[in-house]
Order: sequence, then C-alpha cells, then structure tokens
Amino acid sequence: MANKQFDVVVIGAGPGGYVAAIRAAQLGFSTACIESESYADPKGEIRLGGTCLNVGCIPSKALLRSSELYDEANHAFVMHGITAENVKMDVGTMIRRKDNIVTQLTQGIKGLFKKNKVTLLPGRGSFVGRENELWQIAVVAKDGGTEVVDAKHVIVATGSSPRHLDGIPVDNESICDNVGALSLGAVPARLGVIGAGVIGLELGSVWKRLGADVTILEAMPDFLAAADPAVAKEAWKTFTNKQGLKINLGVRINSVKQGKKGIRIDYEMGDAVMALECDKLIVSVGRVPNTAGLGAENVGLKLDGRGCIEVNDHCQTSLENVWAVGDVIRGPMLAHKGMEEGVMVAELIAGQAGHVNYDAIPWVIYTHPEIAWVGKTEVQLKNEGVEYRAGQIPFAANGRALGQGDTTGFVKMLACARTDRVLGVHVIGANASELIAEAVTALEFGAVSEDIARICHAHPTLSEVMHEAALAVDKRPLHF
Ligand code: FAD
Ligand code: NAI
Repeated sequence: MANKQFDVVVIGAGPGGYVAAIRAAQLGFSTACIESESYADPKGEIRLGGTCLNVGCIPSKALLRSSELYDEANHAFVMHGITAENVKMDVGTMIRRKDNIVTQLTQGIKGLFKKNKVTLLPGRGSFVGRENELWQIAVVAKDGGTEVVDAKHVIVATGSSPRHLDGIPVDNESICDNVGALSLGAVPARLGVIGAGVIGLELGSVWKRLGADVTILEAMPDFLAAADPAVAKEAWKTFTNKQGLKINLGVRINSVKQGKKGIRIDYEMGDAVMALECDKLIVSVGRVPNTAGLGAENVGLKLDGRGCIEVNDHCQTSLENVWAVGDVIRGPMLAHKGMEEGVMVAELIAGQAGHVNYDAIPWVIYTHPEIAWVGKTEVQLKNEGVEYRAGQIPFAANGRALGQGDTTGFVKMLACARTDRVLGVHVIGANASELIAEAVTALEFGAVSEDIARICHAHPTLSEVMHEAALAVDKRPLHF
C-alpha cells in the first residue's frame, strides 16, 4: 500500500509546531502533525502543546498566580484594612487547578487541529530518506507500530528538554527539573535551586511565597546578566531584601548527595567552601534541543555545535524543503518566538513573504515584580557605540500604582540620540508583561520616543509610566 502523502508534515506539536501546522492548513496545504508525548495524561492520550502547555509557560503561570494570592492574603490585605487570619494553602487544590488548566488548553489544540483539518499522527517522528522529491518520515507509535508518511515539506519543531548536570540525577521526586518542580505535593521546608535563570526565579518565587526557605545557587558572578543592569539591580534588591530569596552568585557545585536528612549540596563560592542542605532541589540550568532519534544522520540534516538544527534567517535547514522552528534552532527559547517562526515558515512554503523580526521579540520574567524588555540594553548600545538618550520613570510616581498598592520598579526607555528611534524598553513592575506590548509595537513600527510621548494614554493606568518615560527621553516628564 502506498504511503499517506501530505504537503506539509510537522514533527512536534509544541507552540512552534502546532502553530506551523494550523497556518499551513489555513493556507490550503494537506497537513499532518506528529507528536509523541503523552506527558501525564490520565488516559495515556497524546498531549499537544509541547513544553509550553504541559510543563512550561502555562502551568508555571498558574502556580505563580496561586502563590501570589496566598502571599497577598498574608501580606498585602492588611494595608487595605482587611484581616485575613489563619490563611491556609492546600497545595493539592493548587496543583489540580493547574492540571485542569493544562488539560483544557491541550484539548483545545486538538479542537483547533480538527477545525483546521490538521491530521494528528501520534508517535515519534524520524527521517527515513527521500524519494521523488518526497521526504519519508517514520511515525513509531507507543505500541511500536510504525507507519511511514511522505511529505513535500517537513517542519521540525521537536523543541527542547531540561539540561541535567553530571552527578546530579533528576528523579522528579527529590531532585527535580521543571517537570517535578511544577508538581510538588507539598511545600518543602528547605528548597535548593541550581541556576538563577528564568525558571529558578519563577519557580523559586512560587515555593518561597508558599513558605519554603529558598536558596538559589548561580554559577555566574552577575545576576540576570541578560537584563538591563538597572533592572537587574532593582530585581536583586526586591527578591533578596524584600522577599527573602537567598541567591548566591559565582558558585561552583562540587557534589550533590541524597541522605536520610535530605539533599546536601557541596559547593564553592570564591575561596569559601560551603554546603547547602535542603529537602527538594530544582535543577534549572538551561535547556538542550531535542534532536536525538530524529534520524538527522539518515538524511544529512546539519546540526550546529550546540546540537541545534542549523537554519538560515528564514528557518530553512541544510536540506531542500526541510524547515525547523522553535527551541530546536538558534535564538531565545521562547514560545512566542517559536510561534512566529511557525507562521513564517508556513507562509514561505506558500510563496508568501514570511518574516520574523528577531529584534522585536519581548522577554518576560513572571516574578513579582514582573520583568519585561524588548530591544537593546544600555550595555549593548554602549558596546555598539550607539549614542542614545534614556528616560526612566518609577511606578512610585503613578496614581494607579499607588492605588493598587504596588509601586516597585520603573520603565526605562532608550532612544537613538540622533534619530529618536526607540531602541530598547525595560520594565520592572506590576503588569510589565502586558505593558511591554506597547514597546514591542513601537519597535516593530520603527516609532520614535516622541510618537509615544504624543499618544494619549488612559488615566489612571500603569501605561502612563510608559508615556512619562517617553517624555523623559526628551527631559520633559509631566508628573515626575
Ligand atoms: P516544545 O514546546 O518543546 O514542543 C516540542 C514537542 O515536540 C513536544 O511536545 C515533544 O513531545 C515533541 N517531540 C519531540 N521530538 C519528537 C519526535 N521525534 N516526534 C514527535 N514529537 C516529538 N516561554 C515563554 O515564551 N514564556 C514563558 O512564560 C515560558 N515559561 C516557561 C516555563 C518553564 C518551566 C519552561 C520549561 C519553559 C518555559 N518557556 C516559556 C519556554 C517555552 O516552553 C518553549 O520555548 C516552547 O515550548 C518551545 O516550543 P517548541 O514548539 O519549539 O518546543
Ligand atoms: P536559563 O538559561 O534562564 O538560566 C539558567 C541559569 O543557570 C543561568 O543563570 C546559568 O548561569 C545557570 N547555570 C548554568 N549551569 C550552572 C551550574 N552548573 N551551576 C549553577 N548555575 C548554573 O535557563 P532555565 O531557567 O533553565 O530556563 C530554560 C529556558 O526556558 C529559558 O532560557 C527560557 O528560554 C525558557 N523559559 C522562559 C520563561 C519565560 O519566558 N518567562 C520562563 C521559564 C523558562
């Protein structure tokens, strides 16, 4: 019997893959999407949505919200005159709520596949070869049954997995990566975290708010080195002094041992030899692209030095009609970046002018305060020799922030000194994740700071701080 044939076969149904499949189907291509993962589905069914929906963006934000409410009940209600005594957290309910949100969304992707006529092929996809300009892709189901399908175009979107460290075996019970850290059954009295990156800070915050004594061990000497230094400084002050996260920088882990009393981590910090004892340990030291078992070697698909699939600016690989998007290629490992690439590739296959503006991809860290930025930092501009003007306005000067009882942080806008074009915007504060959208639009449209200064911003809103920061670039803020 002849193999089933599709115009487009996508391998992986995370944000990069499922969006690419939907867009390809919308453009009229016969499209299939191969997905292997059942994660923790109670019925053992295939779970769509990848890392993001199952064990990443969505579940982490659900837990962040629950822990924020608990923290507010304990510490913020009082300033409004509300007494909340004996506030209790039922971790089981919190985790079930998170699981229900995940199920709703992963099922939602199945619905979107049906609506858009994307064929779901459950199983592990790998390259077999190419004949008559068609790629042969094997789909190996859980029970071992194998089907080979033919594809004119293949989009690889196999994503990434947590990086583990030698000598630190992750069992997702005591020593966890993101998977276990999102499903702890109770608040650990002492939580250790290796890596003060995005996961370490977000999940460290969750368990800290719920009462754990959290210590984060970070290899780098600088805190949040990718963020603007002023933002990193403000974040450090808030997380450590105000919120009580213990963060040790410039650390070298020597050994991790599990014993009856918990986990012991021996490490060095400068000349000091130190030890941390904890009940649970989260290892969050970055992620590695998923290319093992993909059959790259069968077809000569090129990988780079870090194991990512090599692509050009348009996500074309070294092979004709083979594309790759999302965490499995270069660039930031962010869901929205993968989604944009998925759309671009589907449109390029259709002969349209697909494009991703890599200079306007926002970053958000969902701590409290939130941290968000787009474009260049001051350090980058200095290194590039670009002359710029900066406007920085604190939330403390904003009526809405005062009303909300949440005045930490600021908006900082950087604009070219010659052309006034907005080059970077950095926000630390409540709702930074939403506020950054205006800055992304500004960058995408090539706006100047004067454009934002002349836009009417609703009063009273936090967005007025963005407005004032734009005015401050020209040294004419009205309310500061
Ligand atoms: P993935 O989401 O990893 O999906 C790849 C899919 O391919 C998986 O379902 C996998 O099972 C499947 N697959 C792999 N190999 C095969 C194969 N051979 N055959 C068939 N299927 C295969 N990003 C944000 O933008 N915002 C956030 O707030 C955010 N929070 C995060 C929080 C955590 C705790 C983590 C871990 C990540 C977070 N991320 C966040 C990152 C985000 O989850 C990833 O960038 C995003 O999921 C990448 O999408 P992707 O489609 O490239 O890969
Ligand atoms: P990360 O790259 O953000 O941070 C890893 C940290 O671990 C770095 O600070 C690094 O210096 C440190 N580190 C590395 N090796 C170490 C060692 N041996 N000892 C001590 N520290 C060490 O990676 P993380 O937090 O694992 O997250 C992975 C990715 O997932 C992120 O880069 C991001 O792309 C994505 N993500 C995005 C989120 C968001 O957008 N809000 C939230 C969570 C994850």
